Amino acid sequence: MKKDRKLVVGNWKMNPGTLEEAKRIYGGIKKKKALFSHTDIVMCPPSIFIAELKKTDRNKDLLLGAQNVFHENIGAFTGEIGPALFRDSGAEYTLVGHSERRLRGESDEDINKKVNSALKEGLKVILCIGEKERDLEGEYLSFIKNQLRVGLDKVNKKILSDVVIAYEPVWAIGKSDSEAMKGKDVHEMAIFIRKTLSEMYSPQEVLEIKILYGGSVSALNAQDIVGEGYVDGLLVGRQSLSAEAFVEIIQIVDNL
Ligand code: PGA
Repeated sequence: MKKDRKLVVGNWKMNPGTLEEAKRIYGGIKKKKALFSHTDIVMCPPSIFIAELKKTDRNKDLLLGAQNVFHENIGAFTGEIGPALFRDSGAEYTLVGHSERRLRGESDEDINKKVNSALKEGLKVILCIGEKERDLEGEYLSFIKNQLRVGLDKVNKKILSDVVIAYEPVWAIGKSDSEAMKGKDVHEMAIFIRKTLSEMYSPQEVLEIKILYGGSVSALNAQDIVGEGYVDGLLVGRQSLSAEAFVEIIQIVDNL
């Protein structure tokens, strides 16, 4: 994927409640795809809907992603779904390390295993990072740095274009649109993330990695966040469950 393309990802979490509703929302977004010239759209529905939604999209207008992935591909792992199964069901991306997974006990080391195994299987990885809270001493910056360093440990430098970083400050997730991070503050974090990455990779390699912002994104703040934040796109939760609201957000990003 070329760096000049933007990326907007919809994370449906454990919604909507039925396949019928999922198809309706997906169809509503897909219908508008032709309006966007330089924005890729990835939808991350509950795993059980991925193959079904894929069947409704023969032109591959939208890309599909998992919300989480296991680090093994096959075997005696009751209840888990590995990268090869997601690939087979039509997913091209996977979120890894979303804060709602970390809250349930995923460590940076667990996340790193998932990152490497998903990449090896050909899935693109959206690695979610973000601090729970801020402190005046700036400890949250070391926290973010560690999430990046451990999360990306041993990643093959030749496939960094398959890696996306989604910066989602946990305190800004699930809030009102005025509580999302302001564009200028997003910019500061994007600089910090790029600086941390540049301690790990060459300048050319860093350019391969897209950076997204997530946390209470809506059509009201998308312009400020992407325009002033200088990020490559957005990770959208609640607002991706309405085709109209999500399409409006993509349109704003695509116009920038
Ligand atoms: P939100 O969720 O947009 O509803 O805040 C974002 C996320 O958790 O990825």
